[in-house]
Amino acid sequence: MLMLSPRLWFSSIASHSHNTLSCSSPRFLFFVPRLILTTALCNSSRKLCCGYQKPIKQNGFFPVASDLQSCSSSFPKDSAFSGLEDVVVSYLFGKKRATEVAHMVWKHVVQKGDTVIDATCGNGFDTLEMLNLVADDAHDGYVYALDIQEDALDNTSLLLEKSVNSNEKHLVKLFNICHSKMENAVPRNVSVRLVAFNLGYLPGGDKEIRTKSDTTLLALEAAKRILMPGGLISIVVYVGHPGGREELEAVESFAAGLCVENWICCKIQMLNRPCAPIPIFLYRR
Ligand SMILES: C[S@@+](CC[C@H](N)C(=O)[O-])C[C@H]1O[C@@H](n2cnc3c(N)ncnc32)[C@H](O)[C@@H]1O
Repeated sequence: MLMLSPRLWFSSIASHSHNTLSCSSPRFLFFVPRLILTTALCNSSRKLCCGYQKPIKQNGFFPVASDLQSCSSSFPKDSAFSGLEDVVVSYLFGKKRATEVAHMVWKHVVQKGDTVIDATCGNGFDTLEMLNLVADDAHDGYVYALDIQEDALDNTSLLLEKSVNSNEKHLVKLFNICHSKMENAVPRNVSVRLVAFNLGYLPGGDKEIRTKSDTTLLALEAAKRILMPGGLISIVVYVGHPGGREELEAVESFAAGLCVENWICCKIQMLNRPCAPIPIFLYRR
């Protein structure tokens, strides 16, 4: 555990080495040293250095919460990371949801024209977010949106109809399949920048129909095969329902097994809210 100050800390729980962190991609950042954040790095506790400003001690201490709000943007406005700090800080102070943190992280990885996969499209909110990231004037970015429930695909389709024009809607390919079969949906020669999982059951739907650890693991393996270097597997895990904890353990052990040279694996966990959703990010260097 790395203690930054008595009042403000970042702790990294490592299962392997303790090196100095370096972030190979300038488009990607998880370690924001000003934040009160407990992050379990599944396979390394190396400190991420992305060329941004280091926290400066004030009277022997790193800044406290009130200071964080007033100086939360250490990145220039045009930086690839601008906005990320604000969202993570808001999350830590209970002002943003786990999915919003995930969306902001996607923003720093996904580019216009990319191909991405929503592995659990549900009501379509994540699909819409992804579409906004990949759609460009050339219309060559695609979102492959998968779900095992017809209702979920209908909901996603409806949301898209209400939110985007028909050209953009055509960039979303809906598939009524299990995410473990994602390789059947995406054309073979295509590199995928982001595979996102928002696990659990369909909000407003049948709670018995939910993601299960065995198929989630198969899907993670498939995602690993088709993800490009510089790509991200993003997972939001819910532990409040039956099977949720087991699924979290499966995801964690998958992440912990990814080699340190090629992957950076993080989770953000609320320590005093044991049922809070847990964002997990697996970044392929
Ligand atoms: C929490 S919801 C997703 C929320 C969604 N991303 C959104 O923005 O509204 C989880 C979804 O996973 C779907 N699901 C469950 N098992 C699945 C599987 N094996 N493959 C694909 N989708 C699955 C459920 O049907 C449900 O719609």
